[in-house]
Amino acid sequence: MTERYPRLLRLVHWAMGLLIVLVIGIGLLMNRIAPGQTMNQLFDLHRSFGLIALALIIVRAWLRWNGPLPPPAPGMPPLQQAVVKLVHIGFYGLLLALPILGWLGSSAFGAPVIFLGMVTLPALIAPNTALAAQLFTLHEIFAYTLIGLIVLHVLGVLYHQFVLKDGLLRRMGPF
Ligand code: HEM
Ligand code: HEM
Repeated sequence: MTERYPRLLRLVHWAMGLLIVLVIGIGLLMNRIAPGQTMNQLFDLHRSFGLIALALIIVRAWLRWNGPLPPPAPGMPPLQQAVVKLVHIGFYGLLLALPILGWLGSSAFGAPVIFLGMVTLPALIAPNTALAAQLFTLHEIFAYTLIGLIVLHVLGVLYHQFVLKDGLLRRMGPF
């Protein structure tokens, strides 16, 4: 047990937080602009940043389940502790599933996944338009669920910070 999350986990939390907001923002934007060069570039950026998030979530899960963790925030009733745990596990599950679904969907759609304009990654499955549509629907549902969890998470942290004033934010503070 420790009072704060380990330093590396704290740094990865904030790096990922920024990355996820970018990936979501680009994802929403690219689907709503006119087809063309900019749209293609945004798709490539979304896929590349999403794949970086996939690498980071694997590192993060390893750190999370192998390192020392602080105890649950003090004074939380058991039901609230269970909800917080569920949200945190939900984050890991969604952040693992989302990039894989995006990659699978792109492969099924027949679109190349080019990492940062440098490396074309292999297709995971053969082209299949009907399957692509299903995979993208799931990708979208998971993305909106993730947005919902982020809102819940941030509201929870703000409640601790400004109503309970229990210094919870420091447990995840980057420095
Ligand atoms: C943590 C990672 C990811 C998140 C949070 C995420 C989130 C999103 C969001 C919010 C959208 C827009 C949905 C909408 O407009 O309703 C989207 C669309 C899309 N994403 Fe991702 N994404 C991630 C990773 C990836 C990856 C790694 C790929 C591909 C390698 C990918 C491929 C796509 C594609 C092709 C679409 C458009 C689907 C469509 O036309 O409906 N995503 N994503
Ligand atoms: C994309 C956004 C975010 C994601 C995916 C995310 C994910 C997580 C996860 C999974 C944990 C549990 C620790 C772990 O297992 O790694 C956590 C803890 C934490 N997060 Fe976030 N987070 C995000 C954004 C934020 C933001 C914007 C804030 C600040 C307002 C924040 C503040 C915290 C704090 C204070 C904790 C520690 C809670 C505790 O001590 O129990 N997070 N976050």
